[in-house]
Amino acid sequence: MKHLALGLVLFVVLAGKAEDDASVKRGGYIFMNRCVMCHFPDTRKTRVGPGMKGIISQNSFFPASKKRVSLKFFKELLKKPAGIMPGFKDLSPREIKDLYRYLEGL
Ligand code: HEC
Repeated sequence: MKHLALGLVLFVVLAGKAEDDASVKRGGYIFMNRCVMCHFPDTRKTRVGPGMKGIISQNSFFPASKKRVSLKFFKELLKKPAGIMPGFKDLSPREIKDLYRYLEGL
């Protein structure tokens, strides 16, 4: 019984990890199609908008609006245009979460 429980926990952890990796991958794919023309992923330097390196992992606040870093604000940002950044109304909640996961890893 104990082994079964342990196996189950391991399975859930590994399945969760695989799902996270897949989410980051999907997010990176969306970024390369929709965002990279205006945002560098590997530096803080401005392209059209601010560079995304460490934007979530190293910051408490987003660089332009100074809003606290959160998935909630990120969702709002992608739904409503900010400055000359266009809105991305067509992205689903899952796609937005994938993008967020990708940005977390930069
Ligand atoms: C046409 C160029 C353009 C595209 C495409 C674009 N952005 Fe932006 N982005 C900008 C600009 C310009 C700013 C700065 C906005 C401002 O000054 O208010 C910005 C700001 C941001 C910020 C910081 C917001 C803040 O509140 O500080 C994030 C995060 C961001 N963009 C993510 C993305 C993501 C993710 C995508 C792809 C889905 C994307 N952007 C696509 C131009 C763009």
